[in-house]
This record gives sequence, structure tokens and C-alpha cells, in this order.
Amino acid sequence: MASHRSIPYSIPSTTTKFCLLFSLLVGMSSAQLSSTFYDTSCPKALSTIKTAVDAAVKKEARMGASLLRLHFHDCFVNGCDASVLLDGTNSEKTAAPNTGSLRGFDVIDTIKSQVESVCAGVVSCADILAVVARDSVVALSGPSWTVQLGRRDSTTSSASDANSNIPAPTLNLSGLITSFSNKGLTANELVALSGAHTIGQARCTTFRARAYNETNIDSSYKTSLQSKCPSTGGDNNLSPLDVTSPTTFDNAYFTNLKNKKGLLHSDQQLYNGGSTDSQVDTYSSNSATFKTDFANAIVKMGNISPLTGTSGQIRTNCRKTN
Ligand code: HEM
Ligand SMILES: *[C@@H]1O[C@H](CO)[C@@H](O)[C@H](O)[C@H]1NC(C)=O
Ligand SMILES: *[C@@H]1O[C@H](CO)[C@@H](O)[C@H](O)[C@H]1NC(C)=O
Repeated sequence: MASHRSIPYSIPSTTTKFCLLFSLLVGMSSAQLSSTFYDTSCPKALSTIKTAVDAAVKKEARMGASLLRLHFHDCFVNGCDASVLLDGTNSEKTAAPNTGSLRGFDVIDTIKSQVESVCAGVVSCADILAVVARDSVVALSGPSWTVQLGRRDSTTSSASDANSNIPAPTLNLSGLITSFSNKGLTANELVALSGAHTIGQARCTTFRARAYNETNIDSSYKTSLQSKCPSTGGDNNLSPLDVTSPTTFDNAYFTNLKNKKGLLHSDQQLYNGGSTDSQVDTYSSNSATFKTDFANAIVKMGNISPLTGTSGQIRTNCRKTN
């Protein structure tokens, strides 16, 4: 693309125009994904995944949150390529935001083996993560959306890439906006996608500084957080990201923010007198708007730099390359 733009004042020849059109099509990587990708090659793929997700969430509601988070942590690190699932000494799993924190790998393994048994070597681990994220949200009463498919799996996974691309809960609003902008996502999409924190739990270590040192926090909420999260020790003690309804995908997260009951520093940044306050107001009063925006934003997140065509591979085992 850049090489075409850098030709100054050239009269476009037919060849140039063709090249422009061609590179435009290639550049639109999302155009290569399709919701019908497995319709003939593996017609049972989606129903197999949904049945397994429903069972896992029924067994433990929090698993829906853990599975949704996997897709986010996959897509933000070199695109949605299942790099987050690879085992290894310096794999993404070992990175600071992930180690002792990400969960659900066993559920993905079970789903992958079930999908392999209905059609071997066809469905990528990256696509499984995208479908599982949708089915998890639906299982917890959230919105549905059509999942774009056709991603392939990476052969590499880098802890340092995860450390530098996954936003930290210590970031301020401008840091969060920059982190999402680096992935082609807008500030509006940051707020919508942060609504994922309407489900799931976080460890004491991720909110201790807020529970003890911050002032933009409801005082009784602060006291209750301190009782669950000591100033030293108890690093793995859990608190719900949405204190109101942690296993329902609703808009309560946004109402909590308005009440200064965001769990993470980064959560409360979205409602702290800045440019995103009005969107939090809207979502807190209009659940349908939040759900529609979340669905659109997660489809866009799922389009981040997919491997397609003959790039990458279809892993047989999501934990290792073929
Ligand atoms: C906006 C920047 C974000 C930051 C700073 C952030 C940070 C965090 C942190 C620190 C935790 C707790 C981890 C732990 O206790 O070890 C967490 C949990 C979680 N995050 Fe985020 N997150 C962000 C965005 C997102 C997005 C975009 C999604 C999905 C679309 C998401 C989904 C989740 C879920 C569902 C959990 C709970 C997981 C569970 O219970 O296992 N987060 N996040
Ligand atoms: C946000 O954090 C960055 C990096 O830590 C800092 O440079 C910046 O001044 C902060 N912005 C605000 C508005 O506090
Ligand atoms: C709170 O802030 C003080 C002073 O900056 C610092 O020494 C302490 O470690 C902080 N506590 C937590 C839990 O972050």
C-alpha cells in the first residue's frame, strides 16, 4: 500500500489501478474471514463448541469469564492466532498478565479434541477461541453475534510480546486509549469491550493499590475490599469485577463505575471525570446499547491480524505446533 502512495503525481495506468484494487483487497484482512468458513468442511463445528461451552459454564459460571478473556489476550498479542494457547518456556502463558491468572486451557483442550473427532485437522484453535468467547457471553445472558471464521494458528508465542501488548490495570485513561488504539480500536470500543468486566473475578494483587491508596472509590466498597485483600499476603484472594452481578453479562459494571465501585484502577479510569464518562452514563442507563456496541467491538477485535490462506497452520493440539 505504502509503495503506491509514495509514487508522486504518476498518471494511474491500468496496471496501477489494478494493483491498487488488489492491495486494497489484500490489506483488508478481515475480508478474508467468513461466517460460513466451516459450513461444508466441518458443519458440526459450531454446535460441538456450543454444547461444550454450555456444559463448562453450567459446571462453573466463572469459566465463561475466563474463556472470554482468552480471546482478548490472544488477539492483543500478534493478532487472533491462538498464540496464547502454546505451552513453552517463554510462551505468552508465562507473561506477567497471564501467569497464575489465565484459566480455561483444559476446557479448550476438551473442545479441541471433540472438534478434532468430528473433523480432524480442519478447525483452528484461534477460531475455537473466537466461537467460545461468543458462546460464553451468550451462556451468561449476554448478547450474541455472528463469529467470523477462517483464522489459522501461529507457530510462535512470545512472553515479551504479551507483556508489551496487554494493557495493565495500573494504566490511566490515556494509557488505555493508546493501548487499544495500537490495535486499531477506538476509545468507544475500549469502553464497550471493558464491559467484559461485568463477569469474572480478579486477584487481590491486581486491585490492592486501589483498595488501600485510591480516593475515587466508594468508602464502604473500599472497606469490604480491604477485608478480602490484606495489605500484605493473600495475593490470590478473589473479588468480583462486577460486585453486583458477577455471573450475568449485563450493564451493572457501568452502574458500578458511576458509584465509584470499579474494582481495578483501570476500570474506574473510564468514569473519573474524563472523556469516556458520557459513554459510561449511556451504558449504565441503556443495556441494549451496551450489548450492541460490545458485540460490534468484539467482532472487530476478532479481526486483528488473523493468519489466513496458507499462513500458519491448523494445530492438532492447541498447546503445541504440529
Ligand atoms: C481495558 C483494559 C483491560 C485491563 C487493564 C484488564 C485487566 C484485567 C485484570 C487485571 C484482570 C484480573 C486478572 C487477575 O486477577 O489475575 C482481568 C480479568 C478479566 N478480564 Fe480484563 N482487562 C481489560 C480488558 C478486558 C477485555 C477487553 C476483556 C474481554 C473482552 C476482558 C475480560 C476479562 C474477564 C472476563 C476477566 C475475568 C476472568 C476470570 O474471572 O477468569 N478484559 N482483566
Ligand atoms: C498517564 O500515564 C502516563 C504514563 O504513566 C503519564 O505520562 C501521563 O502523564 C498520565 N496522564 C494523566 C492524564 O494522568
Ligand atoms: C500506598 O502508597 C504508599 C505511599 O506511596 C506506598 O508506600 C504503599 O506501598 C502503597 N500501598 C499499596 C497497597 O499500594
